Amino acid sequence: MSRYKIGWLPGDGIGKDVMDAAKIVLDKLRLDAEYIYGDIGWEFWCKEGDAFPERTIKMLKTVDAALFGAITSKPVTIAEAELIPELKGKGHVYRSPIVRMRQLFDLWTCLRPCKAYPNNPLNFKEGIDLVIFRENIEDLYSGVEFNPVPKELQNTLSKISKQFEPFKNLSPDDYAISCKINTKKNSLRIIKKAFDYARKNKRKKVTVVHKANVVRATDGMFLEIAKNISKEYPEIIFDNANIDALTMWLLKNPLNYDVLVAPNLYGDIISDLCAQMVGGLGFGYSGNIGDKFAVFEPTHGSAPKYTGQYKVNPIATILAVKMMLEWLGEIENAKRVEEAVAFVIKEGKVRTYDMGGNNTTIEMAEEIAKKL
Ligand code: NAI
Ligand code: MG
Repeated sequence: MSRYKIGWLPGDGIGKDVMDAAKIVLDKLRLDAEYIYGDIGWEFWCKEGDAFPERTIKMLKTVDAALFGAITSKPVTIAEAELIPELKGKGHVYRSPIVRMRQLFDLWTCLRPCKAYPNNPLNFKEGIDLVIFRENIEDLYSGVEFNPVPKELQNTLSKISKQFEPFKNLSPDDYAISCKINTKKNSLRIIKKAFDYARKNKRKKVTVVHKANVVRATDGMFLEIAKNISKEYPEIIFDNANIDALTMWLLKNPLNYDVLVAPNLYGDIISDLCAQMVGGLGFGYSGNIGDKFAVFEPTHGSAPKYTGQYKVNPIATILAVKMMLEWLGEIENAKRVEEAVAFVIKEGKVRTYDMGGNNTTIEMAEEIAKKL
């Protein structure tokens, strides 16, 4: 029996290219693990009407952690599905397997470190070293949405909200509602996790991201909870910023920031901004972390035009491996992977196209494996 069982989810497009690269690094580490492949992605939606088949969910319940490549996703309505012969008459609507996976397995933390490894030609500024904690299952991603808006909801809102006045006579087709739902429980645990991380890793500051001056109920609550929690961490500077202003400040003075914590949507937005400052899609990676299970991934998508060309940068996925190793408690191995990545970036001999070179995905992975 191996020490670890790891779910292996390449998905679509370049998902397989980057996962092959990750495997080169894992094999070189000789991690005592069994890798269990799972079907996921667009291909299975087209074949079976389900991008995240039940058998994959069952498999994931038996593993310690999973590594996920990327998937192709397109917004598909029932009307569009009717045009796909295999799905005709079945009433399928496309749902993102990632969002489902996060909710199904209660992967409530999205952890996204953004570090400018020295000498990366794509760095916006040297020295950037940010860690983002994004609430991962609720907020505007709760999935509670109405288009058209049911009459009973319109009636209720007319009765209980003065702010609803301008909408109360609209016809159901003339507007839509997406609910931003934030719970105390999830706000509290993600904020606490960010502060605990800061304490453990000797970080100086935690910035809480919100728009509490306008979105008072939910973001106001998030900020209030953060203020209270911060009192338990007197050694850490408590900072907070409106999401709009923050995007400007992050670009202007990225070195002023350290740990950031945000509700789901704002967290999504700032993670892409921060990933771009440290090299872009070839470098952004994240962990979807619950209490007992976690899924690690590069944040890029399936880049269909590069499928199977082994051209894209595997560093994001290899850094996702590093984070998975950390989470499994393989701290030494995680350090080795990060140091090897940093070495190869610094040396600059092997570079994929996005970094201005012409090495392949596999050559990059082999170079990193060599330095382990
Ligand atoms: P994308 O991230 O797949 O690619 C956009 C462009 O970024 C690519 O054409 C390529 O030029 C570059 N790029 C991406 N990964 C790279 C890498 N590792 N190295 C170097 N360059 C890289 O985003 P796009 O084209 O908007 O979406 C393609 C598909 O992926 C869509 O179906 C989308 O829904 C899906 N998607 C899936 C995600 C996931 O699986 N987590 C996340 C984002 C998009
Ligand atoms: Mg995103």
